[in-house]
Amino acid sequence: MLNNQFRFQTKSCHFSLSLSFSLSITPADTILRRLKPNPRFLFYAVCCLLMLLGFRLVMSGRDRISELPECLLTQILSYLPTNQSVQTSVLSKRWENLYLSVPGLDLNCSVIPYDADELLLSFIDKLLEFSPESVLFKVKVQCRDTMIDGFRDRIGMMIDRGTQHLDVVSSTHCLEDDNSLYPIVDMMPMNLYTSKTLVYLKLSSSGLMDPGLVSLPCLKFMHLEEVKWRVHLEKLLSGCPVLEELTLVRDLEDDYARRHDEFMAMRVRSQSLKSFRVLPLRNGYVGSIVNCTLEIDAPGLEYMSLGEDQFDSIVVKNLTSLIMVNLDIKFVVGFWVLFNTWDVSKSNEIRDFLNGISSVRHMIISAKTVQALDHYSKTGMIPKFNNLSRLEAVFHSKLLQFLPAFLECCPNLKHLVLKVVHSEVMKEGLELTDVPRCVSSTLECVEIQEKLQCEEGKMKATSYFLGNSAVLKKFILSPTAYDPRNVVESEIYDKVNKLTKRSTGCEIIIRAMEEVVII
Ligand SMILES: *[C@@H]1O[C@H](CO)[C@@H](O)[C@H](O)[C@H]1NC(C)=O
Ligand SMILES: *[C@@H]1O[C@H](CO)[C@@H](O)[C@H](O)[C@H]1NC(C)=O
Ligand SMILES: *[C@@H]1O[C@H](CO)[C@@H](O)[C@H](O)[C@H]1NC(C)=O
Ligand SMILES: *[C@@H]1O[C@H](CO)[C@@H](O)[C@H](O)[C@H]1NC(C)=O
Ligand SMILES: *[C@@H]1O[C@H](CO)[C@@H](O)[C@H](O)[C@H]1NC(C)=O
Repeated sequence: MLNNQFRFQTKSCHFSLSLSFSLSITPADTILRRLKPNPRFLFYAVCCLLMLLGFRLVMSGRDRISELPECLLTQILSYLPTNQSVQTSVLSKRWENLYLSVPGLDLNCSVIPYDADELLLSFIDKLLEFSPESVLFKVKVQCRDTMIDGFRDRIGMMIDRGTQHLDVVSSTHCLEDDNSLYPIVDMMPMNLYTSKTLVYLKLSSSGLMDPGLVSLPCLKFMHLEEVKWRVHLEKLLSGCPVLEELTLVRDLEDDYARRHDEFMAMRVRSQSLKSFRVLPLRNGYVGSIVNCTLEIDAPGLEYMSLGEDQFDSIVVKNLTSLIMVNLDIKFVVGFWVLFNTWDVSKSNEIRDFLNGISSVRHMIISAKTVQALDHYSKTGMIPKFNNLSRLEAVFHSKLLQFLPAFLECCPNLKHLVLKVVHSEVMKEGLELTDVPRCVSSTLECVEIQEKLQCEEGKMKATSYFLGNSAVLKKFILSPTAYDPRNVVESEIYDKVNKLTKRSTGCEIIIRAMEEVVII
């Protein structure tokens, strides 16, 4: 049974629709139940239902669906890709031109054959010319790999139609007369930089020129993936006074930067920015890597996630509002390489970075980052994270001896989530002896997680925290990663119960893994 309320709202029309229908398709039932209530999925379900219904009603001569107001129908159609909304034109006379009034566009041109360029352009023109004064709220376009002459102008026309949401995947090549492919930079149209309506902008593989003036007064979300920079990010951001979220994926191969030194640094400088993320590349590393420095200067930044090493050095400034960081970096670009501990400038850079984020309250660090911090700590000082109350960290078990030293830098930690991986390469005779301040006096909740069926590292950590944490209220071992066919839960309880507990009131929770992994 799905019960849902959908609200559609456009400038010209307010309409509320309550729907309740039940699905009784038994085999698919279990799959459906696992699906989280995804709004997009629900809309698709509703659209399909309405289509079917519309079709049935047309057949029976009672076209009730078509009696709904046009703005609602076009709103519903705007949740479909344009190629599908076009198909509704066959439903009836009423539907014939409805797709032309949809307040959005969702075009995937990646499969358009080379000889259909003209057809595609004239189709887009027909859409754009049908009601030129109405707003195209949402535009999503995947360009073909090879550029189509005149396509950029059409994107410019879409932007001119008051678009609030623009998502473009640009072309990367052009097909020459001799049938060979040349890489090109697909520049975005100039009116993009001065849109008075854009709220959300997502670009992939697109080129951004220097427009002279940037003025995007409403832009709140910007997602720039492998963009070819011909304008400085800093300049772009300077024209976005209300930007709150920025996501970057670098183009590691942009040769233009190699030839123009000034593009070997990217500056994220913003007063309004709240969230900044670097996401991993879609296709992993390829080809040559052009060195680039990242500078983040954002006094309002609350959330920062660096999901991959795409910059050779990272400089942070004024991060006084930071609440949460999520790090999966080792401070050098490239697989398997760690920095040289004798490299003083690298060591200083890491020190300054850690100092710059030291007011953070919630930190998530991957095994890679833990390894880099351990490496750094051999010659450098890790600052105190006085405000850190929650830490989620992945420790390779051979690095567990670094855990107390790291916790020493978190004197007010309350909640620790620790994932111990690869216990099989446990260091011989590892003993966790040092008891940092947070363990003895502030740590209230410890959760130890491990996916693989290796007990040693986890038991070491378990006995360490139970034995030393004086104010521990809750200890969670999850998932315990035992195979219920071999070990009964009570054995794990027995094992844990035998351990010395410093905090008598501590509740111990042991969670079994839902799915057993057999390797
Ligand atoms: C619409 O385009 C998508 C690709 O984006 C394709 O998978 C789908 O089959 C197309 N639908 C129709 C009805 O052509
Ligand atoms: C466009 O269609 C292609 C081929 O069907 C598909 O691989 C790609 O993911 C689609 N793009 C989008 C943005 O849906
Ligand atoms: C990047 O910088 C490193 C040193 O920081 C240098 O060894 C390397 O050659 C540089 N790579 C390029 C492509 O400039
Ligand atoms: C960061 O701080 C410096 C000095 O404290 C200041 O000059 C600069 O304007 C600040 N940056 C931002 C984006 O506010
Ligand atoms: C901790 O946070 C408070 C505000 O909640 C702030 O005033 C203080 O400077 C922070 N301390 C550190 C060490 O960053």
